[in-house]
Amino acid sequence: MSDLKQFTRKEISTRNTKDDAVTIIDNLVYDLTPFLDDHPGGHEVLLNVVGKEASEDFEDVGHSIDAKELMKKYVIGQIVPEERIEVKKKTFTWDDKSSPASSSAATENSSFINSWKFPVLLGLVMTLMYTYLFG
Ligand code: HEM
Repeated sequence: MSDLKQFTRKEISTRNTKDDAVTIIDNLVYDLTPFLDDHPGGHEVLLNVVGKEASEDFEDVGHSIDAKELMKKYVIGQIVPEERIEVKKKTFTWDDKSSPASSSAATENSSFINSWKFPVLLGLVMTLMYTYLFG
């Protein structure tokens, strides 16, 4: 990847029209001009992010693996090393200590509801009520 053309963010900022639609995703520079009319999400969303950073918007949509494969076709370069930013990824792992399920007392209730204990307890209560009312 090191032989990719290097761009500064300033250079990209002027390439913000539908005839020169360039955007930045994960420090890579994409020329979306030929893709505007083919984008399944429409050209408007892409035109909102031309000339600037689109990593978050791209990630927020939850694009498919196919989309990520397709985007490789439009890479024209990368951001110069001194202007690269660390891209936050919203990945979730079960042992992630910062995940909401293990971080606060408020979410302990929801983890109880999501666990197997809740449906079992509910079933027990329903059975008791049924026996009491109709038994
Ligand atoms: C090279 C860059 C991009 C490629 C190749 C691409 C490709 C795709 C593809 C293939 C889909 C269909 C759904 C899927 O397979 O995930 C899609 C949907 C979509 N994309 Fe993109 N996309 C790109 C950039 C962006 C950006 C920068 C944004 C937001 C600013 C965006 C917003 C959307 C939206 C809103 C949808 C519709 C989602 C839905 O209907 O549920 N895309 N894109």
